[in-house]
Amino acid sequence: MRAYARRFGEDEELWGIVALLHDFDWEMHPTLDEHPQDGAPILREEGYPDEVIEAILSHAEHLSLPRDTQLKKALFACDELSGFVHACGLVRPDGIETLAPKSVRKKLKQPSFAAGVHREDVYKGAEELGIDLDEHIAFVIDALRPIAPELGLRTAADVVAS
Ligand SMILES: [Fe+2]
Repeated sequence: MRAYARRFGEDEELWGIVALLHDFDWEMHPTLDEHPQDGAPILREEGYPDEVIEAILSHAEHLSLPRDTQLKKALFACDELSGFVHACGLVRPDGIETLAPKSVRKKLKQPSFAAGVHREDVYKGAEELGIDLDEHIAFVIDALRPIAPELGLRTAADVVAS
């Protein structure tokens, strides 16, 4: 989300905060009749601006809220895909270092792989953002690569060491 904020000339801090907080209430509200709508009043009480709260609410498909800003579109587009790219990296010897969109696409077609990731949200997210799926996947991989070790992913250096 920070990378997309930079790309679109938007507020990187704000976009980063939205990404960080979008599932903040999941442990408290682990079902869709509570998440994320019951988290919103907590954020409001904490003084978060409407822009942040509305973006967080809009990532929930079941609320059917319009994704009418770049921030909302980017959040929805990155949510499932970043988790999926992470999962792809976990099963590769060099993590996401040499991961290409083509192999991510291939894995998306295997329903048993990272089965919790909603494929239709991945496709819909790129479409709503108006970015070609391959380009979007490549962008997310590039954005995550510098922080791969923090995400618990191996790197090319680990391959050399093993
Ligand atoms: Fe969520």
